[in-house]
Amino acid sequence: MSRYAHITGWGMTVPSRLVTNDDLAQMVDTTDEWIRERTGIRERHIAGGEDTTASLAVEAALKALRVANLNPDDLDLIIVSTSSPEHIFPATACLVQDRIGATKAGAFDLLAACSGFIYALNMATQAIRSGAIKNALVIGAETLSRITDWEDRNTCVLFGDGAGAFVLQAGEEPGGVISAVMRSDGSGSESLSVPAGGSRLPASPETLLHRQHYIHMKGREVFRFATRVMVQATKEAVDKADLTLDDIHLLIPHQANQRIIEAALRGLDIPMERCISNVERYGNTSTASIPIATCEAIQRGRLHGGDWVVFVGFGAGLTWGAAVVKWTGPFLPHRPIYPPSYRFWVRVRSRLLRLVRRIEGWIWGRK
Ligand code: COA
Repeated sequence: MSRYAHITGWGMTVPSRLVTNDDLAQMVDTTDEWIRERTGIRERHIAGGEDTTASLAVEAALKALRVANLNPDDLDLIIVSTSSPEHIFPATACLVQDRIGATKAGAFDLLAACSGFIYALNMATQAIRSGAIKNALVIGAETLSRITDWEDRNTCVLFGDGAGAFVLQAGEEPGGVISAVMRSDGSGSESLSVPAGGSRLPASPETLLHRQHYIHMKGREVFRFATRVMVQATKEAVDKADLTLDDIHLLIPHQANQRIIEAALRGLDIPMERCISNVERYGNTSTASIPIATCEAIQRGRLHGGDWVVFVGFGAGLTWGAAVVKWTGPFLPHRPIYPPSYRFWVRVRSRLLRLVRRIEGWIWGRK
């Protein structure tokens, strides 16, 4: 019997701090007009002191579980797609696992930059379709502001922070994620990168001096690459699903730049009315942009059960990909799930586990 991976829950969050183009014009040599004309961005949300990638991921995850009516301990797998993890290790996904109380879930991070959400969605789908697992949580979460050079006008005007999450569940009814393509081209790795802080250039006074822990980008190169692969990946994924572009109700592209989105639409001959764009209000939230745009599409009544939707994205690596989904919605009837109450018990559980570890250390240390 065939198994399908349905998207049954969704949630998003952005930090409360809003930074407008005029605010940026006070920091670097730029103008609201330049940013709007070249990117379509007006404002973005930027992490405040208490926000981190894991804290945003947890908020989005709890909302997604609430929509799916699923308890965290029903999850088998958590994938956090991010390019701004809390640490090199442990994985941000493990911090999320602990904070939502997903006691039976495996958890790992996936790094495919802005294409990461599509990669993660596909990995979770394959795990469900193979029969290995039933329920998965896929999160795209970023605090790119923490690795943005706020003195570099080429990059600091582009990015924003936020998180979005989907719950995926196994079902026998045809639907959910039907096809996906994932591609990469490492020969373009220098087009968009954070050069230092890894094995090649470990942190040193020189790397700090040369600002190599921040995002470096060749904007025009990325622009050309993006417009080409968005069209190509969308067509491949739609073909693979045995559909045509006319069957697609909604295109939800990675929100990097309004001009890139419009160029892709021209290449696909899809009108703007069948596309979601919110880059104006969030900037480029990298791997979080597709789930955030999806949540807004649902809120605005633009995505319904039975609709065919295409997610398409591109990013550093270089990576790109697309997925075709028959939209589902929650499986389980509404039941009383209160994420805030989990938080209390989950914190108690986490503290107890830490205490047990200390006691164990004390006992073993005496021998
Ligand atoms: N304000 C004012 N001027 C700026 C500026 C800013 N924030 N950033 C760059 N400029 C200047 C440049 O210095 C350049 O000046 P010069 O001609 O004197 O050298 C001029 O504007 C034009 O720069 P250019 O790079 O040709 O602009 P562009 O039309 O390509 O737009 C981007 C720049 C970055 C908006 C565009 O290339 C882009 O969106 N690329 C893709 C980036 C992306 O999506 N990255 C994330 C991928 S997931």
